[in-house]
Amino acid sequence: MTEPIENHKNSVKTVVVPAAGLGTRFLPATKRVPKELLPVVDTPGIELIAEEAAQLGASRLAIITAPQKSDVLAHFEAYPELVNTLRERGKLDQLRKVERAEKLIDAVPVKQDQPLGLGHAVGLAEAVLDDDEDVVAVMLPDDIVMPMGVMDEMARLRAEKGGSVLCAFEVPHDEVSNYGVFDVEECGEDTVRKVVGMVEKPDADEAPSNFVATGRYLLDRSIFDALRRITPGKGGELQLTDAIELLIEEGHPVHIVIHDGKRHDLGNPGGFIRACVDFGLDHPEYGPGLKRAIKEMLAERESKKRRG
Ligand code: G1P
Repeated sequence: MTEPIENHKNSVKTVVVPAAGLGTRFLPATKRVPKELLPVVDTPGIELIAEEAAQLGASRLAIITAPQKSDVLAHFEAYPELVNTLRERGKLDQLRKVERAEKLIDAVPVKQDQPLGLGHAVGLAEAVLDDDEDVVAVMLPDDIVMPMGVMDEMARLRAEKGGSVLCAFEVPHDEVSNYGVFDVEECGEDTVRKVVGMVEKPDADEAPSNFVATGRYLLDRSIFDALRRITPGKGGELQLTDAIELLIEEGHPVHIVIHDGKRHDLGNPGGFIRACVDFGLDHPEYGPGLKRAIKEMLAERESKKRRG
């Protein structure tokens, strides 16, 4: 039984995390290990998302999983054998690390049997919402948005403007076709725009702006009704972007917060390595050694290049 919505900071109870993908870009690592459990330094990406969801005020993480990915949920379950062994050995720091995920948030599974798209995945989460939830947050686990806290800003904007609020980054024009792209109008604040249209992965010359969706959404509950009414779009999949576009067409207010920070894409090895280096450099134990090692590796390559 979850607490009533009044007890939730930002009026958000549920964060939906679509995590049913096969992680083909990470093979062979993802042959047996779900991509969401790969460690950024020592913490699985999904636990970073759970931390952000808990910080937003949510108490439930609705994890959309494929049948073969039950280990993602298991990461949020108690593990008494390991806990007992660590306690017996007096390893209390490690014990805290083992128990952290399950204490952060209540993870609930939502099964997606077929990969029909992000819109389909998010739509399935409606079944776990309580009647008192007017808004649902969506966090894509491939996207790490830093510093943490942009969702708080989005919740403040939603309290002011109503409707739905999304996080946007401004990217170079030749990158827009990898994202959902916003058509926007100024609305008096530097970091906020009103969204008048949204299109999934357009060709660069047809993109309405350089503002793109980056994995953080605060969506009015009416999104579920819109998701039931869309038809397959880009790539033959049911796209969350198309449901948002439908809401905009019907006069539902949608705004973006343009995030002034950085973002890591854990969805491919190149982005993942960068995230590990960035988190590693900030790590109190590993940071100083990593910095030295990177400098040495770069210097070694430079001197090899000079020697020809
Ligand atoms: C998804 C969304 C897209 C969004 C992107 C952010 O695409 O469909 O609108 O801009 O995430 O990472 P995907 O990267 O899953 O293809």
